Amino acid sequence: MDAEELEELARRLQGRALGGWGLLQLAAGTGLAAYAVWAAVLMPGFRRVPLRLQVPYVPSSTQQVANVMVLLEGRSGKTVDLGSGDGRLVIEAYKHGLRPAVGYELNPWLLRLSNYRAWKAGYNGKVSFLKQDLWKVNLSDCYNVTVFLAPSVKPPLAAKFLAELPDEARVVAGRFPFPSWTPTSTVGKGLDQVWAYDMKEVRQAAQTSAEGSPV
Ligand SMILES: C[S@@+](CC[C@H](N)C(=O)[O-])C[C@H]1O[C@@H](n2cnc3c(N)ncnc32)[C@H](O)[C@@H]1O
Repeated sequence: MDAEELEELARRLQGRALGGWGLLQLAAGTGLAAYAVWAAVLMPGFRRVPLRLQVPYVPSSTQQVANVMVLLEGRSGKTVDLGSGDGRLVIEAYKHGLRPAVGYELNPWLLRLSNYRAWKAGYNGKVSFLKQDLWKVNLSDCYNVTVFLAPSVKPPLAAKFLAELPDEARVVAGRFPFPSWTPTSTVGKGLDQVWAYDMKEVRQAAQTSAEGSPV
């Protein structure tokens, strides 16, 4: 599969008929063929990631990407997308002046596609896509973090952010908010809604909350 075929696949995955979640449902309904596509194209490289932490590829929509950029407007410092898919958020972040811009992704097809997209946008060598398990990345030098991941991984992710991110860091989450955190701001509606969390405020709220459960 070459980069253009990968890009075509990504376009199809973004369509409602064959979105990543839709593909999962299809797999349940039609069995082996769809499962084979899922296992071979969407989830290679995940053998060492526990099943409960595995999140399939579902690319952000154009509107979701735009909303993330609104919440990162005027910021600076290292910007990372955890589970960077085809690289769209990282490339857009770089376009908005956020540098260095780095994506962490385990799927080798998506890493290839990300590099192709960066090259096509004229950012070859300017943005980085690293084949790394997001759970093992040390985030202590990251100031802007984007996450478009499943709700099931939000609690362990929250714990990781609290342990590693600097106070000045901002986390921008798409599709699902962090259930125990109060956002600093939010943009968009329905599926396009994104939420920003400033770590200093999250930590302060955790300290003053009666339950004291920041995760
Ligand atoms: C829902 S998609 C989001 C893709 C991209 N961030 C976007 O918004 O378009 C989640 C991505 O995270 C990747 N991913 C899941 N678990 C990961 C892990 N442990 N380490 C690195 N990447 C991971 C998947 O391969 C998938 O591409």
